[in-house]
Amino acid sequence: MKKIGKVNIENPLVLAPMAAINCPAFRLLCKQHGAALIYSPMIHCNSLVNLYNSDKEKCLNTLIDFEETEKPFTAQIVGSDPKYLGEAANILSEYADILDINFGCPDGDILATKAGAFFVKHPEQMDKVLNTVLDNTNLPVTAKIRTGWDEKSINALEVSKKLEDFGLSAIAIHGRTRKQGYSGKANWDIIKEVKEKVNIPVIGNGDIFKPGSAKAMIDQTNCDFVMIGRAAIGNPFIFSRTKYLLKHGNNCPEPTKEDVIKSFFDFVELFNKQKRHKFTELRDHAMWFVKGLEKAKSLKNNIIKQKDEESLLKFMRSI
Ligand SMILES: Cc1cc2nc3c(=O)[nH]c(=O)nc-3n(C[C@H](O)[C@H](O)[C@H](O)COP(=O)(O)O)c2cc1C
Repeated sequence: MKKIGKVNIENPLVLAPMAAINCPAFRLLCKQHGAALIYSPMIHCNSLVNLYNSDKEKCLNTLIDFEETEKPFTAQIVGSDPKYLGEAANILSEYADILDINFGCPDGDILATKAGAFFVKHPEQMDKVLNTVLDNTNLPVTAKIRTGWDEKSINALEVSKKLEDFGLSAIAIHGRTRKQGYSGKANWDIIKEVKEKVNIPVIGNGDIFKPGSAKAMIDQTNCDFVMIGRAAIGNPFIFSRTKYLLKHGNNCPEPTKEDVIKSFFDFVELFNKQKRHKFTELRDHAMWFVKGLEKAKSLKNNIIKQKDEESLLKFMRSI
């Protein structure tokens, strides 16, 4: 059993925050497969506060769509205006177990508002964000950072120490700079260095594509948790298989086609229970589920042609 603040977390496997992917059904499926800590997609503090104050019910059906069964649950906020960040922290504290601040988003629209990875370029400006979030919650607060802005300004260690000094309860490090985006290789050496030098839990992130790479990250960096993003898309098995490897020391077999299709239908069942229900989202997940199957290209071409849930499910059953 591991902990972030006072929150118990059953194993070291964490589902990364992913905008446009982490719907409640996907998050729950990953949880059922063994992810012990689940993140929301990033939630912009201004949108959250404005919607919560104007239409609370809609907000609870969309931005704050967390389920009790997902707990322990981390809600991630992004933004730069201290007033909105404070109010968002206060609102989310009622629904989440941990609050995470996004200091790593490389997206141009987010950077234009001086949020996300803007802060790894200007760490001195983190203070007002940290103060307002910490003042407005009793939950453990964590942050997700990148290694730096670019290869000439790697500052993850300096930033991590600062976050620890502010009283944060854990740090998630994506081992890439902002400039790298998602290209190149994640730098695990920096994750290792931070783990050696800080006394709060470190969540390592970047390039875990197989159970073996999750184990390798733990072995190489000694990080407390491993956060998995892209490898989980359409593949919740990454969690069950990594859990197995960490427990038994050897790999369990890859999922068969039948396992994959069954898992997709488990997803559909969860999706049909969630409040937000958009056919194109379901179809996107279907495309992601088949990506590792034989003749994936032709399967995807077929899936994209399906125009409603009934025909999509009929096709998925026929695979
Ligand atoms: C589609 C997509 C959406 C993402 N959305 C977020 C987000 O909302 N917040 C965040 O901190 N990181 C976000 N990320 C970054 C991931 O959390 C993670 O740091 C990154 O994908 C590296 O991990 P991986 O190699 O396991 O994918 C996103 C990544 C992807 C691919």
